[in-house]
Amino acid sequence: MNAADPTPGAVRIDGELLWARTVLTDAGIDSARADAEWLMAATLGVDRGRLLILDDIDPAAARRFRAAVSRRAARIPLQHIVGTASFGPAELSVGPGVFTPRPETEFLVEWAMRHVPRDTDVRIVDLCSGSGALAIAIATLAPNARMWAVERSPEALEWLRRNVDDAPGDVSERVVVVAADVTDASAVGAAIDPGSIDIVVTNPPYVPTTTEVSPEVAHDPAEAVFGGADGMSVIVPMLPVIADLLRPGGVFGLEHDESTSVAVVSAAAGIAEITDVAAHDDLTGRPRFMTGRRRD
Ligand SMILES: C[S@@+](CC[C@H](N)C(=O)[O-])C[C@H]1O[C@@H](n2cnc3c(N)ncnc32)[C@H](O)[C@@H]1O
Repeated sequence: MNAADPTPGAVRIDGELLWARTVLTDAGIDSARADAEWLMAATLGVDRGRLLILDDIDPAAARRFRAAVSRRAARIPLQHIVGTASFGPAELSVGPGVFTPRPETEFLVEWAMRHVPRDTDVRIVDLCSGSGALAIAIATLAPNARMWAVERSPEALEWLRRNVDDAPGDVSERVVVVAADVTDASAVGAAIDPGSIDIVVTNPPYVPTTTEVSPEVAHDPAEAVFGGADGMSVIVPMLPVIADLLRPGGVFGLEHDESTSVAVVSAAAGIAEITDVAAHDDLTGRPRFMTGRRRD
């Protein structure tokens, strides 16, 4: 079948989805079926679940769908094609220049929510905020949270500001965007009072530069993905900044590469103000998170 020229007249959705599934599988995409459905749903502007009750689409929509499938077959990330990424309760605009949030990072949302008090206000910082995924998801779930989202990249800051502005309810009034380098204690301290923060979450760049990444990951900005030869080039200088921000008893959670769990735990344990350092596995059993607390 010619990708650019579907049959004239009404086109059957199930046939289009089957074609797309084959094209995407041949392109080496594991999630071919789901991706085909997401692309069809985005093309038609409907929820994915609604595809079940639709039979036909018009030829113009079929052409748009096939163009989207061709882009995905070229290994452009699904989220760049549809323009959004879901992350917990948040729907974020994403595209070139910003890191696409990943589902595994939702561990930090769940972990942070366990530390959010019910009755009092809470002050939370998201370091290396990117699209604002963590800040916006947590602020959405915790109406008593005041958040600071810290990011350095000018391109990512544009997406971050847009996502904060577009967030539902009063989220945009409770999330402050800070343009700063998270390894620069004085820049961060000038925007956020040191010793005043209850919770810090962070998903910094942490992939060792020698790691081969998939074609989709190559669409994320390199400065969002790679953390130097050992994956620690941002984490190590950021840890004292985290310790400075936290109030006594305040807690932090950090995502890292599975190969650096021991190094990350030992770097945190080497900071006098930090205690209760613990490693955590992701859902597939890989050590991907570290948490700790500022001494009382
Ligand atoms: C892995 S991405 C995470 C983005 C977002 N938190 C998420 O989970 O989807 C890391 C982010 O850190 C930013 N970044 C890298 N180095 C930084 C630094 N020294 N200071 C501030 N932000 C930095 C990158 O631009 C990128 O947006």
